[in-house]
Amino acid sequence: MSDWSVIITGASRGLGRATALALARLGAAVLLNARSASDLTHLRDEIVSAGGRAEMLAADISQPDTPERLVAAAVLHFGGLDAVINNAGALAPLARIADSDPRLWQRNLVVNVWAPFALVQAALPHLRRAPHGRVVNVSSGAAVRPVPGWSAYCASKAAINMFTAVLAAEEPEITALALRPGVIDTSMQQTLRELGADAMPPEEYQRYVQLHSEGMLLPPEAPGQALAMLALHAPRAWSGRFISWDAPEVQALMSEMSG
Ligand SMILES: NC(=O)c1ccc[n+]([C@@H]2O[C@H](COP(=O)([O-])OP(=O)(O)OC[C@H]3O[C@@H](n4cnc5c(N)ncnc54)[C@H](OP(=O)(O)O)[C@@H]3O)[C@@H](O)[C@H]2O)c1
Repeated sequence: MSDWSVIITGASRGLGRATALALARLGAAVLLNARSASDLTHLRDEIVSAGGRAEMLAADISQPDTPERLVAAAVLHFGGLDAVINNAGALAPLARIADSDPRLWQRNLVVNVWAPFALVQAALPHLRRAPHGRVVNVSSGAAVRPVPGWSAYCASKAAINMFTAVLAAEEPEITALALRPGVIDTSMQQTLRELGADAMPPEEYQRYVQLHSEGMLLPPEAPGQALAMLALHAPRAWSGRFISWDAPEVQALMSEMSG
């Protein structure tokens, strides 16, 4: 069993859940966060009954005190903090700029950008003390590709990429990455299929419908394994990069570490 201690947000389902399970299998103690207490309780119990270490804090990551509470809980339960995974994410509003609800637009930026900033700020004193402190911010291909109907989401993911690059420049002792996790079979994709038709150009919308109907969406376990591995083993030389879960160097790191 290792001594790693990792906070992961958005752990109740989808990519975050798969990543938390992968972290626990790799020997890390995980502090699970999301709003759904019952889903987190099931996940924590699953990890603990398989011999792993997990604690949970059910809270909205966009509330002012949640980031500090998460860091305090990780230190209390696990004695320190080695890595933070900012995975919780919001897609809404799915609407063209002219039609977007300004409050939903603002909320998107708070969940997708402010919360990662606040969690990293609260965690920094501990990450600096860790032998290899790491931050992985879950980004998206939408950070570098404009999708009509997704203005808040695209802008937030572009912001998280630059936040990651500045963090890497300011904190040479820490490894900070922004991860493109691919197109994954999660409830975010389901929401897109259910609500995206009116906001997105037909060919763009059909692309996602087709990926689903042809079984081409990734199972969360595939990028989840890469995300867990990066949070524990990403080399410092990569710090500041926006990197894809299936980049050859990420796959090589996974083979090396699990071989
Ligand atoms: N799915 C894709 O194709 C895809 C592609 C590129 C990038 N991503 C990124 O991958 C990450 C995970 O997405 P996913 O596809 O797994 O989505 P998902 O299934 O919708 O899961 C989102 C997670 O975030 C949590 N969350 C949302 N708002 C929160 C808040 N205010 N406070 C705390 N937790 C919150 C949700 O839990 P609760 O509802 O219980 O709070 C849930 O655990 C996101 O950053 C997303 O942008 C996804």
